[in-house]
Amino acid sequence: MRLLLVSTALVAVVTALPKPKAAHSQERDIIYRPAKRQAKVIPVVVGGPQDTFVPNSVTAAVGDIIQFQFANGNHTVSQSSADIACTQLEGGVYSGHIPFVDAQTDVGTFNMPVTTAEPMFLFCATGPHCQEGQVMVLNPTSGQQVLDYTKLSQATTKSVDGTTAVGGTAARIALTAAAFSPAPVQDAAAPPPAEAPPAPAESAAPAASSAPAAASDAPAAAASSAAPIPAVLTGILS
Ligand SMILES: *[C@@H]1O[C@H](CO)[C@@H](O)[C@H](O)[C@H]1NC(C)=O
Repeated sequence: MRLLLVSTALVAVVTALPKPKAAHSQERDIIYRPAKRQAKVIPVVVGGPQDTFVPNSVTAAVGDIIQFQFANGNHTVSQSSADIACTQLEGGVYSGHIPFVDAQTDVGTFNMPVTTAEPMFLFCATGPHCQEGQVMVLNPTSGQQVLDYTKLSQATTKSVDGTTAVGGTAARIALTAAAFSPAPVQDAAAPPPAEAPPAPAESAAPAASSAPAAASDAPAAAASSAAPIPAVLTGILS
């Protein structure tokens, strides 16, 4: 009797539990898949006092977002193939030209979702920036690959720009939230630098101090005026 009561109670508890969902439900997927990694927003600074990407080598997972932050100058994020550096890859990512000028208090960004774990080769298409080494590799297979791509870029003679922004979203963030300090503001109203100061009176001293050594070799020359004309020239000049 007591056993019957217990088993009846057990049946009641089990039937009261939520029914398991269908085999292909989302709930089942969450239970059986490994825990999902949290997507990250990874900042990369484009330009500044130098034409660079900082860092120029980034490892990111599919689903992460690379937040390119445009510092001083006028730069792009442009995708090339591994072999044809400084040339926009057809169908590749392109941010368009995004400037940062003195006294700006916000920063232009280009938020690029990472859609592949394969290496991705990126450059700035403005002027000679790519030839100067303004390139980076996303998910490089090695440090050597970053070196090789940079060297290849420096060996090109011109860049081929993209036309329409694609592969990301342009936005703006506050300068105070940016991953860089802007280059010092160039003050156009600043006075010109002071004139060069007059040469110090003791400027002749080094010559005088070296005189003793010379004197031992040429006593006659040392005894003459403070600015002797070398013997070789006196004959020519007279
Ligand atoms: C940035 O560079 C592009 C290409 O050279 C040019 O068309 C654009 O006017 C520049 N923008 C600024 C704000 O200098």
